[in-house]
Amino acid sequence: TKHVAVLTSGGDAPGMNACIRAIVLSCERAGYRVSGFLRGYNGLLEPDRITLTAERMHNLIQQGGTILHSARCERFCEEDGLKLAARHLNEAEVDTLIVIGGDGSFHGAHALKAHWQGQIIGLPGTIDNDVDGTDATIGYYTAIETAVNSIDKVRDTADAFDRVFVVEVMGRHAGFLGLSAALASASDFVIVPELFSEAQATLAQIRQQIMQRQQRRGPVSYVIVLSEHVWPGGVTRLCEEVSDITGLEARPVTLGHVQRGGSPVSQDRILAVKLGTHAVSLVGKDVTDIMVGISSGAVVNVPLQTTWQKQKTLGEDARATALCLMNQRYQD
Ligand code: F6P
Repeated sequence: TKHVAVLTSGGDAPGMNACIRAIVLSCERAGYRVSGFLRGYNGLLEPDRITLTAERMHNLIQQGGTILHSARCERFCEEDGLKLAARHLNEAEVDTLIVIGGDGSFHGAHALKAHWQGQIIGLPGTIDNDVDGTDATIGYYTAIETAVNSIDKVRDTADAFDRVFVVEVMGRHAGFLGLSAALASASDFVIVPELFSEAQATLAQIRQQIMQRQQRRGPVSYVIVLSEHVWPGGVTRLCEEVSDITGLEARPVTLGHVQRGGSPVSQDRILAVKLGTHAVSLVGKDVTDIMVGISSGAVVNVPLQTTWQKQKTLGEDARATALCLMNQRYQD
């Protein structure tokens, strides 16, 4: 019988447990043995492995985090780490390794290919959605929801005080989370890496918009969504600069790791189940070194390398979307 092993690696994302569950249940149905390595690739190096059973999957689909724990593991990508991992996989007689993670984790999975003969399948799990070859990643939809709920709350206090708020969201170096959260919360301005070019010009735009609104309506609140790692000096610096040019109070809010937690929304659960089930259907087939993703509603297999070879783009309509959201609140 086949032995399938699964691990979760890199930033955890809501829906990883739903995916583990789908893999374990599909394996049981197919008569495969299934186990989980703990703490990402660390579990392959130590080794630290647990048997996964259908009973353990009860009440799991709705849980955030990952029961297998996660980590970023630099040692894994070094030659001796990869060799050690291959040895432990062979000792455990693993046929197929399924890695749920983002592009860093996929680099590791691809590197392992040179040292291990077994089958390697990646499943995209990250709140950033920055994996090319798939329309969405497990955890992305929940993170949008979490950010939107928080921005709605910030809006209440912003309105009450007629204040400016800058809300920093995650995304690593991609603006998927930032743009979606800003759009769905009807924020007034959005700054994401793909659309950002110059600080002074951006500040001038923000100032002009706030001033115009003030002239028409008197005191106004104003919510800016800022992707992490974009603004020189960060969210606090941006608040100071907005305050300097407008004379208004501006407060920073960093959503941070809150965006990684919580019960997955249905879209993430459904995506996790589709991808996990499909991955198990590939066990023993002549495909390896691939990621299973979703493209226009269909489950697809793409070579692991394509997931990072070019940067995934926000979409052709991203700029128009950003402009539209910046005008939608007061139709000005
Ligand atoms: O990749 C997910 C992510 O949450 C990014 O959005 C963020 O930049 C990073 O991980 C944070 O990493 P850490 O958990 O190591 O602070």
